[in-house]
Amino acid sequence: MNDDLLLYSMSTFRDLIIPVLEVAKARRIVEVGAEYGAFTHDLCAYAQRQGGQLITIDPEPQPAALQFAATLSNAPHFRFIKATSLEALPQLDEIDAYLLDGDHNYYTVRNELELIWQRRASRPFLVFAHDVGWPCSRRDMYYAEERIPAEYRHPSSREGVVLDNPGMVPWGFRICSVARQEGGPKNGVLTAIEDFLAGHPDLQLDVVPAVFGLGVIYSKDATWYSQAAALLAPYANNPLLARLERNRLKLYLRVLEDAYHRSATPAAAATGISEQNLAALAPEQLRLRAKELGQRGAWAEASEHYRALTKTAPHALDGWLGRWECCTRQGHDTLADLVLDEALELHPEWLETLKDMAAAQTRNLSN
Ligand SMILES: C[S@@+](CC[C@H](N)C(=O)[O-])C[C@H]1O[C@@H](n2cnc3c(N)ncnc32)[C@H](O)[C@@H]1O
Repeated sequence: MNDDLLLYSMSTFRDLIIPVLEVAKARRIVEVGAEYGAFTHDLCAYAQRQGGQLITIDPEPQPAALQFAATLSNAPHFRFIKATSLEALPQLDEIDAYLLDGDHNYYTVRNELELIWQRRASRPFLVFAHDVGWPCSRRDMYYAEERIPAEYRHPSSREGVVLDNPGMVPWGFRICSVARQEGGPKNGVLTAIEDFLAGHPDLQLDVVPAVFGLGVIYSKDATWYSQAAALLAPYANNPLLARLERNRLKLYLRVLEDAYHRSATPAAAATGISEQNLAALAPEQLRLRAKELGQRGAWAEASEHYRALTKTAPHALDGWLGRWECCTRQGHDTLADLVLDEALELHPEWLETLKDMAAAQTRNLSN
């Protein structure tokens, strides 16, 4: 992913996280998930200043993080462990604070928290967990499905996700493999944290609703509790930040959707017709060409023609049904539902007809 267009690194929170680490006098800290090491640099400098140590864990770090680790191979303030969090955490003792940003799914996060709790001895609890906001709050993401026991794995896909849609779409935000369905039990990072906290009334969760959401979980009886709470208070559950986050996600998703439709254009061009020319065709020409493409099984191209038909002749029921069929034939069920929704928004009176025709076509498709 590119941090220039869409901020996503936990390092975005450095001006909040580092002061909280300072008031907690955290010396030995663990970072789970380094990727390019964007935050590793800051955390490492912090650990050095405190005379402590940063331990970074990642099974598949990017080369930049490995290079950084190599330059510090003998430094007492840094250690790199190439393993998963659930392999590495049981080996670590006397840790003051953790930054969790590895595998964003229920099983991993819940077990990370349980391990941290078990190994904390009498230390106060201090965990910064990333991705407690959309899209991973209520939807598992899997870097490597095989690492998750089957009973915890939700049916998953590499299709895209968009706001306010618990299913999947072909454009959307693509982040590894994610649960096909958002919500429900044992699904997502925030769900894992909430389930963990249900057994720990002595812990507080503050959520900063920006840049995919930062959760800070800390002991209410820590000597530094009030100082940490005061630092977090302006940001925790801040409605302005939440609105800004939603807005930036909507804008980004809009860019992805436009790019998806633009990339559909070459398919139309491959049939000898540019998108502009397509729009200029008469409905009858579009209809005939779409039918012909459908008969040849060229569903993506046929879909472009039907889409142009529904634009130039939105009252033409067969255009909408054609689009629906093309999506269904390509296995894009969520998109197919959206097409029917769009048609019904324009023509609510079509409800019964569309239901009957879609059912009939579904029967035809399965025969
Ligand atoms: C979102 S990136 C981390 C970004 C980084 N923390 C930052 O703020 O710039 C997630 C990283 O977690 C690593 N990862 C995936 N599964 C993991 C696991 N089970 N334990 C530790 N790290 C994991 C991935 O290899 C990837 O490099």
